[in-house]
Amino acid sequence: MTVDSQWYSSLGSLRKKSGLISNTAIMTDLITVEGVNKSFPLPSGKGEFPVLSNVSLTVRLGEVVALLGRSGSGKSTLLRIMAGLISPSQGRVLSNGKPLRGANDDVAMVFQSFALLPWLTVKENVELGLDARGVGRDERAIKALRAIDLVGLDGFESAYPKELSGGMKQRVGFARAFVLEPQILFMDEPFSALDVLTSENLRGEIDDLWNAKTFPAKSILIVTHNIEEAVFLADRVIILGSNPGCIRGELAIDLPRPHERTDPRFKALVDYIYSIITNPEIEVTARVLAPVLASAYAKPLPHVRVGTISGLLELIVDQPEGTDDLPRLAESLKLAVDDLLPIVDAAILLGFATTSAGDIYLTPVGQDFATTTILRSKELFQQQALQNVPVLVSMVQTLQEKRSGSMRKDFFLDLWSEHVPAAETERQFATAVDWGRYAELFEYDASEERLYLPQEAAVE
Ligand SMILES: Nc1ncnc2c1ncn2[C@@H]1O[C@H](COP(=O)(O)OP(=O)(O)OP(=O)(O)O)[C@@H](O)[C@H]1O
Ligand SMILES: [Mg+2]
Repeated sequence: MTVDSQWYSSLGSLRKKSGLISNTAIMTDLITVEGVNKSFPLPSGKGEFPVLSNVSLTVRLGEVVALLGRSGSGKSTLLRIMAGLISPSQGRVLSNGKPLRGANDDVAMVFQSFALLPWLTVKENVELGLDARGVGRDERAIKALRAIDLVGLDGFESAYPKELSGGMKQRVGFARAFVLEPQILFMDEPFSALDVLTSENLRGEIDDLWNAKTFPAKSILIVTHNIEEAVFLADRVIILGSNPGCIRGELAIDLPRPHERTDPRFKALVDYIYSIITNPEIEVTARVLAPVLASAYAKPLPHVRVGTISGLLELIVDQPEGTDDLPRLAESLKLAVDDLLPIVDAAILLGFATTSAGDIYLTPVGQDFATTTILRSKELFQQQALQNVPVLVSMVQTLQEKRSGSMRKDFFLDLWSEHVPAAETERQFATAVDWGRYAELFEYDASEERLYLPQEAAVE
């Protein structure tokens, strides 16, 4: 089986920024951003400060999209451009296929800061947007009460904002947006000003409304820097880079709704996005497969050098019938059985040997490996490593995703550190390097602390 068929199948979730559409069918584009740049004048008056660079994205009918990026990556600026509140320096926004001019009537917005008018009651705050649209008094009242109901604020219609807790204020923020029945609801970090329990509660309610198909908007675009929140709520996560803000790539969250935090794939996606966000060097491409990447580092490698593995196999192959008894083998190697076992584990992991009732047997490929030329044994080792050792596959994938074909050691140590104690990350790395070098999967420059693809395999 090839690497591609074994590890690249079934798990595909990442789509390149430029384009593959969702696998759910052809969807209607509600809002499209095309090649948007935005700069603000510097306070000195000399020159400009670029905030967004060549941003293109689409939000389609019926989906929840999360825009995830660090503080200052231009998320709010992008949202304001899509809402028609400010204009881009270059590029354009299409709403329902038409170039956007002025405020976008298809959009309603929920802000982090609630943005309520303190001198108006809950009901009056909720009615504001309808008033601006010229909706008559009676209809305004009916719609406002319905929206207030929907967010669970029944009975607080005539309260003033100062009488409400943060969570209740944000419920008013939601009611004020819901009442407009927008095509798309924009939310700019709507839960981040709330305490943990309140935000958890409100986020869950919003998700429930969406899953129950009673949500008063057709699509949602949420801006957040909270990875878990993005994976919990969204069907698609668009990852922004910083300085200036740009789109690094996107990830489909192909989990059943509601997205359960206990689902191992949920955690794998969060881990993977975390590794992208904390490593600006990583190029997000369609070939990165989150679950492989995240789980590959969870299974520790036995700390055995390749030379030791081949030594063991050569000893066994010399025995009559290519088999040996483990205690006898330990004795002949002057090793305690406990010290022999990692070597045996490594041989089994690589598919060179199997054990049964205290005996070790070589597989046909193990026999071949033990008896062939050095060149052929390297080929066999590479083949077996790619088929049986996900972490090596993942390391190669990571290097292939980099135009330079190289990546620093720390990046890999970080991935291991999710699963093993700190001291062990170094040992895992050393073993992976020993195996990967022998298999000619990658090279390691110890002075630079960087892994490289072998020269001839580097991506042009
Ligand atoms: N009107 C403006 N004039 C000048 N600079 C601005 C203006 N609006 C935003 N910026 C700058 O643009 C950059 C991006 O700001 P923006 O608020 O869009 O980021 P963000 O990703 O929403 O950050 P946060 O997570 O902190 O909300 C920041 O450096 C900000 O100072
Ligand atoms: Mg912001």
